[in-house]
Amino acid sequence: MSIDFNQIPSPCYVIDETLLRNNLDLIKKVKEAAPIHILVALKAFSNWGIFPIFKEYGFGASASSLNEARLAFEELGVKAHIYAPVYEEKKIADILKYSSHISFNSLSQFRKYAEAFSQQGVSIGLRVNPEFSDTAFDIYNPCKPGSRFGITVEQLGNELPEEVEGFHFHTLFEADSFALERLLAVFLNRFGKFLPRLKWVNMGGGHLITRTGYDIDHLIRILADFKDKHGVQVILEPGSAFTYNTGYLVSTVLDIVENSGIKTAILDVSFTCHMPDCLEMPYKPVILGATDEQAGKPTYRMGGISCLAGDFMGNWSFEKELKPGDRIIFDDMIHYTTVKTTMFNGVSHPSIGLWTENSGFKLIKEFNYQDYKNRLS
Ligand SMILES: Cc1ncc(COP(=O)(O)O)c(C=O)c1O
Repeated sequence: MSIDFNQIPSPCYVIDETLLRNNLDLIKKVKEAAPIHILVALKAFSNWGIFPIFKEYGFGASASSLNEARLAFEELGVKAHIYAPVYEEKKIADILKYSSHISFNSLSQFRKYAEAFSQQGVSIGLRVNPEFSDTAFDIYNPCKPGSRFGITVEQLGNELPEEVEGFHFHTLFEADSFALERLLAVFLNRFGKFLPRLKWVNMGGGHLITRTGYDIDHLIRILADFKDKHGVQVILEPGSAFTYNTGYLVSTVLDIVENSGIKTAILDVSFTCHMPDCLEMPYKPVILGATDEQAGKPTYRMGGISCLAGDFMGNWSFEKELKPGDRIIFDDMIHYTTVKTTMFNGVSHPSIGLWTENSGFKLIKEFNYQDYKNRLS
């Protein structure tokens, strides 16, 4: 049953269960065929109302904070592989409770905390910086000179501290398997000499396995090959790939205004509050049933409900003039979108819902005044 957007209250993020399960099936196939360990990176998607679906697939979890580790424990039923650029002393006791693996970003952090973790049986890793990344976007490149992420091969020296059981690196962004292959060549060249000492290598995220055209067989080959050659457990922790193209932000036109010949449809959602990557990255999202600007067709900017002057994007063309009450459906608004929303201006936070093949729309969460009020005092 295809989604009937008119059944869905506006504004609302809607996850399509069928699309989500397609992604989960594909990622599970990689996990089993290589075979490797795959973790869901909670930083990309933490809507735990949907976690019962994830639980059916047996993935682990990767956390970038104590809160994410605790959520993984409580709602996915697994201890997390945690990595954060730095750990705060006041949180260590709880991080210990909720983590099976921890990666340290620097040797000083390792020296400070390794003993406590190792005594509790938490597997210890170091985040290494291979000083290589293919990504064209500086904001997503953790290997630029001056980066705060990871230990370089020079800093590591020749001796690996005894407690270290694994290496963790993350340098890719929305990448294919060939980017991973290039990265592995550089990683092995720099850090390969330490592999005989290690139990695991966590190759981070940025593997957009579920993008159309991703060469799954090539990925499985290089992972299986790496594992066999080096005798280590291979771990991937993609975030985006799990919820890539699995849902929408449903919104409604509330008004149409015009200035200097530019028509803006003012919506019940906001780019800055509800689709922040559009402004931050930036990128122009797809709207169902609309196209990029086409001469002769009704063309509009989409304007956000907040007071930020820059809370708009342009321009889309539609088959018909827009009017108040029309639905505007933004595509692919799940990964890194729902986790990054704000309540700036006190604007209403979109609800969260699930569209299922058999029962249609199911409301998972609504936000109200108390959610807004409780956040800041
Ligand atoms: C350490 C680490 N692991 C995993 C991820 C997930 O990456 P992605 O969502 O691009 O797959 C990130 C993203 O920033 C990350 O920093």
